[in-house]
Amino acid sequence: MSDWKVNLYRPRLGDAEFDAVAAVMRSGWLSNGPVTREFEEAFARTAGIEDAVAVSNGTAALHLAFLALDLGPGDEVVLPSLSFVSAAAVVTLCGATPVFADITGPDDLCVDPADVAARITPRTKAIVAMHYGGHAADLPALAALARKHGVALVEDSAHAPATRSAHGVLGTVGDIGCYSFFATKNLATGEGGMVVARDPEVRERIRRLRSHALTVSAQDRHRGGPSLYDVDSFGLNYRPTELGSAIGLVQLADLPQRQVRRQEIVTRYLKGLAGTEGLGLPFHDRPVELAAHHLFAVLLPDGDARGAIQDALRGAGVQSGVHYPPTHLFTAYRERFGHREGDLPVTEEVMDRQLSLPLHVDMTDDDTDLVVQALRDALADAPGAGA
Ligand SMILES: Cc1ncc(COP(=O)(O)O)c(C=O)c1O
Repeated sequence: MSDWKVNLYRPRLGDAEFDAVAAVMRSGWLSNGPVTREFEEAFARTAGIEDAVAVSNGTAALHLAFLALDLGPGDEVVLPSLSFVSAAAVVTLCGATPVFADITGPDDLCVDPADVAARITPRTKAIVAMHYGGHAADLPALAALARKHGVALVEDSAHAPATRSAHGVLGTVGDIGCYSFFATKNLATGEGGMVVARDPEVRERIRRLRSHALTVSAQDRHRGGPSLYDVDSFGLNYRPTELGSAIGLVQLADLPQRQVRRQEIVTRYLKGLAGTEGLGLPFHDRPVELAAHHLFAVLLPDGDARGAIQDALRGAGVQSGVHYPPTHLFTAYRERFGHREGDLPVTEEVMDRQLSLPLHVDMTDDDTDLVVQALRDALADAPGAGA
């Protein structure tokens, strides 16, 4: 697919996934159906909860979460700017206002509970915790804030499928948890997502909204059920496919081994990069087994050199990325909400320096060492290095 020696991401797709997809194709039913139900049940079991609702992608999961909270005009949602744009976009599309909070600091790129607290108003309806790179946000502090102010806590757990953390299984601690199975994620079905909710009524509302709130599903009609149906609220088509769910089931069963491999790679990175002059290693002081390790983020000594360092890595065959350009500084958010540089100083300072290194389960130790050496060389050659 590319000439990279080491890709930033790469899904592991083996015979088990191929066979599972082929079985669905032979079954004659491709949309939401029995395989998806099996995936939901398996996901819930893995996460240690009662049930889960599979959806078409992580953005759909977040949209359904906010619809289930009746988010609308006049409401505010406090969320990190340092995230994929998804949550902010669906909050805005619900007619509500995203209120961006800063991150904790260079060692913890998740949202800062103290800054969240400062941004809560009587209009706040929800707080979003995003587990950056698969590392837990401060859920105890955020949950306490949510309780104190009577608002919902939504976990954007796109980077952490059913992952054990110091604060419980990510996505299941708050009121609603949203997961993504996008092509680059730890559990990658191409497009896909999952929603979990503490309150079974909220969960079942989400299940119905996922398919236009029809009283009889297309699957039931396909099986010979009643042709007529009613619609008792306003929903969408956020149904997953059986093809994606079949891949998801295989990967979910293999997730523990895959997570261990990610932990090994991260441990090797941390060892190889320790002591590199000026290089920040966010989350390095946390137990390696209590995170999903979707991303391996480093903070470069100097943000101005990032382009040159990415070029040098490219020259060595190493793909790198940036996660994420701060949402509040995107044109649409500046124009709609009046944001400017300087609004979120910690996010902006850290994000100028952020770089994501390759991290996927099929990386070898040699691949990891190659990336470490390429980065060390690039830093040594960067403009201003050794000054
Ligand atoms: C933090 C975060 N939230 C939400 C999403 C949205 O998920 P999807 O791409 O499946 O819509 C993503 C990823 O793509 C993400 O990284």
